[in-house]
Amino acid sequence: MNKKYRKTIIAGNWKMNLLPSEVKPFTEELRSSMPRVKTCETVLCVPFTHISALRRALKDNRIAVGAQDVSTYEKGAYTGEIAGDMLNDLGVRYCIVGHSERREYHGEDNFTVGRKALAALENGIHPIICVGETLEQRERGITMEHISCQLISALSFIPDDKVRQCVIAYEPIWAIGTGKTATPEEAQEVCSFIRRIMRERYGARLARSVSILYGGSMKSSNAKELLSMPDIDGGLIGGASLKPNEFIQIIDAVAQVTGEER
Ligand code: PGA
Repeated sequence: MNKKYRKTIIAGNWKMNLLPSEVKPFTEELRSSMPRVKTCETVLCVPFTHISALRRALKDNRIAVGAQDVSTYEKGAYTGEIAGDMLNDLGVRYCIVGHSERREYHGEDNFTVGRKALAALENGIHPIICVGETLEQRERGITMEHISCQLISALSFIPDDKVRQCVIAYEPIWAIGTGKTATPEEAQEVCSFIRRIMRERYGARLARSVSILYGGSMKSSNAKELLSMPDIDGGLIGGASLKPNEFIQIIDAVAQVTGEER
């Protein structure tokens, strides 16, 4: 399927790392040697406390600001929660929802993930909806069943006319932070399955325009191979997004795959 209909997205997921005071030096280093790749949207999903500092440090639109979570609630007595309109007000354009760490450590289920995706969309923010299987599920041969259940449940909360604003990230749990990456073929198989689900539910036009990312130990040494796969449109990158040089090399890999000049 032709990639020209969709955006390549390289999204860093800082998780709970770095300090707000480290944002400026980090982005200065990043901006000084980051290639300009027209077809690639670069995003940094940072902790809530870092968003304002990131926005200030970025100065232009070369890098989009992302968050890692959003409340299902709009406003009110929800101590500790952060609402979608608060993120929008700070200039956030992307928000990870349903990351496996939130599902595992914060008890988020498919129902919550769908509501969070909707909360982001209602505030003009692209949700990056994460799905992925455990090693046990892979070994039992139920990967596709699990992925389709996660995806379809989340999408059931989203009005059809908003689905095109969603980004899907396939993150096999066994590959997150483990140094163990899915092979390009394994990642492609699931990403193409995700696109097939999108095609069956929303038609070919939408399916070809939705960006599907791979996440799980993506780094400079494996990015090019993964990004060359026909249904992998970018990466959600944890560990390697904390090192400016690594992150830059991943964006460089996009330039190599798309044949763009640096
Ligand atoms: P990793 O994390 O790149 O460190 O494996 C990816 C993620 O959890 O989004």
